[in-house]
Amino acid sequence: MSLLKDKVAIVTGASSGIGRAIARRYAAEGAAAVIADIVESPIEGGPSTVELITGSGGSALICRPTSRIGAPSTRSWPPRSAGSAASTSW
Ligand SMILES: NC(=O)c1ccc[n+]([C@@H]2O[C@H](COP(=O)([O-])OP(=O)(O)OC[C@H]3O[C@@H](n4cnc5c(N)ncnc54)[C@H](O)[C@@H]3O)[C@@H](O)[C@H]2O)c1
Repeated sequence: MSLLKDKVAIVTGASSGIGRAIARRYAAEGAAAVIADIVESPIEGGPSTVELITGSGGSALICRPTSRIGAPSTRSWPPRSAGSAASTSW
């Protein structure tokens, strides 16, 4: 039985190492894996995590955050009022 059927697993640092192993295990249990990493190629070499998972019949996509521009600074977070939260740009 698939433990994670109909679930989405977002795994940071999942292109390599521990994150890669976690994403592959979650996908093997039926989760759709979101590979959140700044690079797609694994440090250890070989196919990407997305290629490994989809090649095994699983579901996965890469999400590459590239910039912190627009994220609130630590001085302005958490917002002090609903008004400031609404104006926060991500
Ligand atoms: N507590 C423990 O016993 C233990 C043991 C081993 C590793 N760790 C820690 O676990 C983490 C992963 O270790 P690993 O060996 O798998 O490392 P790794 O270098 O093999 O993989 C790290 C992955 O994170 C990605 N990454 C780096 N910065 C990122 C960012 N800002 N956003 C998204 N992805 C980013 C890299 O591109 C890489 O794919 C490290 O922080 C390591 O120190 C802890």
